[in-house]
Amino acid sequence: MTKPRKAPESLRSHRWFGRDDLRSFGHRSRARQSGFTADDQSGKPVIAILNTWSDANPCHAHFRQRAEEVKRGVWQAGGFPLEMPVLSLGETFMKPTTMLYRNLLAMEAEEVLRSNPVDGVVLLGGCDKTVPALLMGATSANLPAIFVPAGPMLRGNWRGQVLGSGSDAWKYWTERRAGALDECAWREMEEGIARSFGTCMTMGTASTMAAVAEALGLTLPGASSIPAADSGHPRMASAAGRRVVEMVWEDLTPKHLLTTAAFENAVTVAMALGGSTNAIIHLIAMAGRAGVPLDLDRFDALSRRTPFLANIRPSGAYLMEDFFYAGGLRGLMSRLGNLLHLDCPTVGGGTVGENVKDAHVFNDEVIATRERPLGPEGGVAVLRGSLAPNGAVIKHTAAEARLLRHTGPAVVFANYNDLERRIDDPALPVTRDSVLVLKDAGPLGAPGMPEWGMLPIPKKLLAEGIRDMVRISDARMSGTSYGACVLHVAPESFVGGPLAFVQDGDLVELDVPARKLDLKVGPEEMARRRAAFVPRQVDYPRGFGRLFARHVTQADKGCDFDFLEGTSPIPEPEIH
Ligand code: FES
Repeated sequence: MTKPRKAPESLRSHRWFGRDDLRSFGHRSRARQSGFTADDQSGKPVIAILNTWSDANPCHAHFRQRAEEVKRGVWQAGGFPLEMPVLSLGETFMKPTTMLYRNLLAMEAEEVLRSNPVDGVVLLGGCDKTVPALLMGATSANLPAIFVPAGPMLRGNWRGQVLGSGSDAWKYWTERRAGALDECAWREMEEGIARSFGTCMTMGTASTMAAVAEALGLTLPGASSIPAADSGHPRMASAAGRRVVEMVWEDLTPKHLLTTAAFENAVTVAMALGGSTNAIIHLIAMAGRAGVPLDLDRFDALSRRTPFLANIRPSGAYLMEDFFYAGGLRGLMSRLGNLLHLDCPTVGGGTVGENVKDAHVFNDEVIATRERPLGPEGGVAVLRGSLAPNGAVIKHTAAEARLLRHTGPAVVFANYNDLERRIDDPALPVTRDSVLVLKDAGPLGAPGMPEWGMLPIPKKLLAEGIRDMVRISDARMSGTSYGACVLHVAPESFVGGPLAFVQDGDLVELDVPARKLDLKVGPEEMARRRAAFVPRQVDYPRGFGRLFARHVTQADKGCDFDFLEGTSPIPEPEIH
């Protein structure tokens, strides 16, 4: 089939550069100011490179170089590249949480694209929230877009042992708190756990969201698995630069790719990976921008029919570098086969089926077969019940199996400061059967729904050898975290969800196989507690936080701003 090709005069950038008027003269003369000749630019698609490089984001330290490699590809294909820096959401340093700012980057990306003479875009992202944010912005802008994931960093190393980002920090910190690890060893780990640029190399949020981007058809085939420091990574970046120019001529926009079937592929892949719970919130928000209905129940239905195949920490044993050598995401998707919609188109020009048909798996230990999966179903379960009427999630593949059906008395913390103050108090009335409950950690309460959901195990239980227990909150948790942590409880406690009314000693019942989360308190007592509830005021008198507090949606709705959802067209800017 012949693909439609645009005439140069129909390029969006032609409105800025191609006319014989005073404004176009100004735009062209300012391009000359930057050193570009008419031959460099005229009649060529303008390709924006949205770059989330920052000194404050070590995961993206290679992006200045990668932007040059994308430009090389754009020039080769007859495009005109313009690099545009945008907000970098560095997971490591930003507080209280980058989630507070995901929608800010999404807004920035959309408006930078709309307000500039851009025909197509290459998105450079990778560190957790940068992926959904850039994709949400590009979806709403609906210009041809291709995503270049930052790629995972190299494996960590300490005294010959492999270390994984996040997961092993939590694990060894628990040992340190238990008195089983000295300061010298702890300092050595600091030197060895993050050995190169690139994103966390466990199956955390960054790895999950990069895979989700690929499964949606928004990266070149295989792009999400390439380690950041592998020479294949710059080759992939320049190939993306070449390809996006063609996408402009073909008018291949996100709207053509982001269908219900594409989102089902993404959810299926995330579940087979044992991916981050954060992907649920981000995918719901991304689907909202594409006008595709996607809710928690669909996640659970897809999770139940998807085998868990990727043996990567925190749910498994290996790391992303091993996954790449074992065949990467293309290998895993080839094994999912008929669970995917293979006819979905992708940015590379081929369908999902065409992209994976020649893929191989070289190590069944790392990428399991469908016949012998690591688990019969996907990595995430959606829970409902009297404690979470609008849903909650648990990454059950990363929890101790004995806790997946558990009833115990609540030990309640009013907020994170309260938890920090009391969790290691020897007088805390907590046993191995207790259920730790954290309030005020949701989208509005915290605010920004930080990754506080992996509540620490009290020291006195660590001393008894306990390493997992049921924990419940309206927070998120890092994709690199693990344990029987029930997250994203909705509605959150701040707005008067049932979580707000849990008291010490109340019995809480978790039943993952039945997908239930119940608070065993009678209706009359609950009504009494509800009547006494006094909502706290939002802390922000002005600024972005105030905008956030007024417009953010709850976890089950994706935490987008209500005014950013949907597909209503925004007019092109007038040029006068
Ligand atoms: Fe950047 Fe984990 S801190 S990806």
